[in-house]
Amino acid sequence: MPFPEQRSRRLRRTPALRRLVAQTRLSVDDLVAPLFVKEGIDTPEPVVSMPGVVQHTQESLRKEARALADLGVPALILFGVPARKDALGSGASDPSGVVQTALRSLRDEVGESMVLIADDCLDEFTDHGHCGVLDRHQQVDNDATLERYADIAITQADAGADVIAPSGMMDGQVGAIRRALADANHHEVAVLAYSAKYASALYGPFRDAAECAPQFGDRRSYQMDPPNAREALDETALDISEGADMVMVKPALAYLDVIASVRAGFDVPVGAYHVSGEYSMLKAAAANGWIDGDAVALEHLTAIKRAGADFILTYLAREVAERLQT
Ligand code: PBG
Repeated sequence: MPFPEQRSRRLRRTPALRRLVAQTRLSVDDLVAPLFVKEGIDTPEPVVSMPGVVQHTQESLRKEARALADLGVPALILFGVPARKDALGSGASDPSGVVQTALRSLRDEVGESMVLIADDCLDEFTDHGHCGVLDRHQQVDNDATLERYADIAITQADAGADVIAPSGMMDGQVGAIRRALADANHHEVAVLAYSAKYASALYGPFRDAAECAPQFGDRRSYQMDPPNAREALDETALDISEGADMVMVKPALAYLDVIASVRAGFDVPVGAYHVSGEYSMLKAAAANGWIDGDAVALEHLTAIKRAGADFILTYLAREVAERLQT
């Protein structure tokens, strides 16, 4: 081997050398655990398409948050499944709704040791399963939806959320929420914008977990079109101009180019959502013995960090946190 080329191989010789020169490090501090809480159940219900993931009761949710806090996971994001749904998704902004009740209980359990992020969207709460309210042509009404998101944000902030994360991809949602929070004197509450959220087929298992599959049509008119990368920069710039404190790209692995360009283009913290389908594909292949699931999990999450994410929302949070401890 010619002389100058030898350097990199010398530095790969032992685990300690590789550790010393690693350019990307995955740590517990990078992880955000998505959790589901369901109203009206007595025991946690497994989500069949997401092995290891459950719909929590209020009690099991609290225990899970305690375990995550003890492992040092810094944040969780909460999704609620209400007992009753209606056209307006009324349950989403009910001060004693499933998410608001859970936020109060979690704050009591973990204090300030974890960041509590609340998903601000309607699809889990509407009987039609769309992320917004519908007009008389059965199309999502952007501006009417903004009012709903604003109400939801206030009740979530009242219940103790540190961060509001609007995931519905309505135009102007960050600004509407920021203004509502200011009017309600919640200046301390941050907004994590799902800035570049693509209309992905990888959300299928989540829709089982959150019971939110659209009853007709799809989300292609409000979520981003997968072929478009530069558009993600526009969406992100808009969200930041409207007051987003942090931004997100979703899904993660099929959009590493988008993560890298958002990272390069903006200075705010960038999150990436390693979504349900990404998790389920990994679990299914591992269960069949086709891949080493533990190794692929670390490789995938490290790749998402390498692309430039500051933190990763992943259903692998707990198991990876356990492994990073030992
Ligand atoms: C919408 C929402 C979805 C996800 C997070 N928030 C589903 C969708 O847009 O259809 C998907 C997350 C995942 O797949 O893990 N409230």
